Amino acid sequence: MMSSSKPAYKDYFGRIGGMPLYKKFIKCWHNVEKFEAKPDDVVIVTYPKSGTTWVSEIICMIYTNGDAEKCKQEVIFNRVPYLECSTDHSMNGVKQLKEIASPRIVKTHLPAELLPVSFWEKNCKIIYLSRNAKDLVVSYYFFFLMVTANPDPGSFQDFVEKFMNGEVPYGSWYEHTKSWWEKRKNPQVLFLFYEDMKENIRKEVMKLLQFLGREASDELVDKIIKHTSFEEMKNNPSTNYTTLPDKIMNQKVSPFMRKGIVGDWKNYFTVALNEKFDKHYEEQMKGSTLKFRTEV
Ligand code: A3P
Repeated sequence: MMSSSKPAYKDYFGRIGGMPLYKKFIKCWHNVEKFEAKPDDVVIVTYPKSGTTWVSEIICMIYTNGDAEKCKQEVIFNRVPYLECSTDHSMNGVKQLKEIASPRIVKTHLPAELLPVSFWEKNCKIIYLSRNAKDLVVSYYFFFLMVTANPDPGSFQDFVEKFMNGEVPYGSWYEHTKSWWEKRKNPQVLFLFYEDMKENIRKEVMKLLQFLGREASDELVDKIIKHTSFEEMKNNPSTNYTTLPDKIMNQKVSPFMRKGIVGDWKNYFTVALNEKFDKHYEEQMKGSTLKFRTEV
């Protein structure tokens, strides 16, 4: 496991509106809160590890009219700045967004009630990508292990407990996902599922093109699908985060482009943990019409 020289788990996070968030992000929260959106901003919202990078690359391909070479010229975290991110390594989402040309593509992991109000006022298009909680928690666990700025997650079982209790950055997955599900009928919002993308990427790319008011030629859709396949993105330095040094993301511990599948949770959940998780899940999601698939 990770070295024991790391500070205690709880020391990494403060709270914004009750939601745990990295202390470094909270320091700059005032700039996030008053962020000024532009009407042609497109916002990609996810709970971490839902496939943010995948949908971001698809949007970049749509915006460049299928120009994969143009997309490769800049790393994804500069093409699609991470709004609330603020770190010691000169990454600051608000600053980056102020500097890039419109139309801007914005990435955020915020729940609906914490999204800067300007995005609602300016009627910006918002794409929410969701992913089933079991695959997500596996992905989040490996992300915790490979990102140096994260605390030691403990064993997988320990981490799942923290996830169930909302003691992870961005808090309760259940509340986050429900908060955005409530917004799905707002014409500003497109609600997508990772599992649907895995099952039929063409259909989901077509949905995105339509939502963004773009022409959907077969040629463009083919190009997008080819360039944003898991294999392509895993081998593409502008999408696989390998340009970051080991001291930020150690891909020897676990690659950022890890498996990219539905159902990997079966390799990590014991029968007992699965039963406990299911019971808790039912309580948390009671009364919601939101249904996820954990296999396709
Ligand atoms: P796994 O860890 O399960 O492999 P995010 O971008 O929100 O951090 O999400 C990362 C997850 O999305 C990882 O999941 C990653 O492998 C997966 N992913 C990234 N690109 C993908 C693609 N083109 N197709 C399928 N999954 C992809």
